[in-house]
Amino acid sequence: MEQTFSRFYTPQFVTGRGSISFISTLGKKRIGIVRGGRSYSPELEKVIEAIAEETKALVCCFAKIRNEPNIQDIFQCMETVRDFEPDMILAVGGGSVLDTAKAIHLFYENPEMSFEDSLTPFTLPALGKKAVHVSVPTTSGTGSEATSVAVFIDSENQIKKLLMDHNLIPHYAILDANLTDSLPDSIRIATAFDALTHAIESSTAANASCMTQAIALEAAVDILENLPLAVSTNTDTKSLSLARERLHVASALAGCAITNSCTGIAHSYDHPGPAFGYAHGKVCGLMLPYTIGLCKAHPSYEAISRRLGYTGTAQELTQALTEHLFTLMKELSVDTSFQALGIDEHEYFKRVPVWSEISLNAFATMVSPAKMTYEKGLQLYDACYYGKHPTL
Ligand SMILES: [Fe+2]
Repeated sequence: MEQTFSRFYTPQFVTGRGSISFISTLGKKRIGIVRGGRSYSPELEKVIEAIAEETKALVCCFAKIRNEPNIQDIFQCMETVRDFEPDMILAVGGGSVLDTAKAIHLFYENPEMSFEDSLTPFTLPALGKKAVHVSVPTTSGTGSEATSVAVFIDSENQIKKLLMDHNLIPHYAILDANLTDSLPDSIRIATAFDALTHAIESSTAANASCMTQAIALEAAVDILENLPLAVSTNTDTKSLSLARERLHVASALAGCAITNSCTGIAHSYDHPGPAFGYAHGKVCGLMLPYTIGLCKAHPSYEAISRRLGYTGTAQELTQALTEHLFTLMKELSVDTSFQALGIDEHEYFKRVPVWSEISLNAFATMVSPAKMTYEKGLQLYDACYYGKHPTL
């Protein structure tokens, strides 16, 4: 029978400053924590202590996860996890930490499963028989607390491997902006551009439902309006607090949007990031306005552009959005080309043919309105390197 419906997947969201205290209401007694190797939040230790105190639960820190975790990082703590037998997996950190917690939960509840077994998309079992999964992001960007994906590096060949299933979505996502206040602005900006790219790309993906689009568009506008406020020294304390909170929620909504549709070509063509060691958000954000140039006018771009106050034809509105993005990047001192970022021209262009070829097969490319070809890939990388603004 033809499928005539679509489902919308989300964790249960808990929001508000101080909302991490929600954990104590779950009545769990063996809390296993997965967190970052370095913490941007000096409040975090106190928060974890307070949770242990209030819940009278046994707390065990399973792992301190580095950026770009590899497969071994998951399995080196699995013995501790099984010995401790948590009834809650609590992930507190950035996207890498939250991703790793998804895998730890999966292999804790399914000890017979190998990593290779877990790689077939949408075949993973439901989770929650042994532990509830609570995800607490401390950055506002990846949206991992709301997504069905976890990414790991295979340390043997440096290839990215992906676990993907809606059963990996955490049961609860706690969006407590207090944990983001001490983020350095450079990280706040790079991660916000990742979230913005999720929001804008997911709204234009061919498989986006009207529900996904509504959430994605609202998240995009919220990020565009609040990011400048969230990093400005001229913003008063109350407005700063509110702007950061809105960014935090928008980033989670953008995560929901990609889970229920997909990203786009700023993600599937993001190879310069891993190749030259640049943060994911920095590369996606840089490529975003150039990719809009290839997608041409789209109702989502028009809608965002109108919300930002622009008027005109579909083409003029889309052009206005690309220029708005470039202006915002300049205002925030973000590089707008790979040349400005300092990537070596020869090293970059010798990789471009392979990148243009392999990106064509990505799902995010297939659902993008850009209708990519090998030649368009070359054109995109050329524009991104030299900073050739698109003309619609
Ligand atoms: Fe991303």
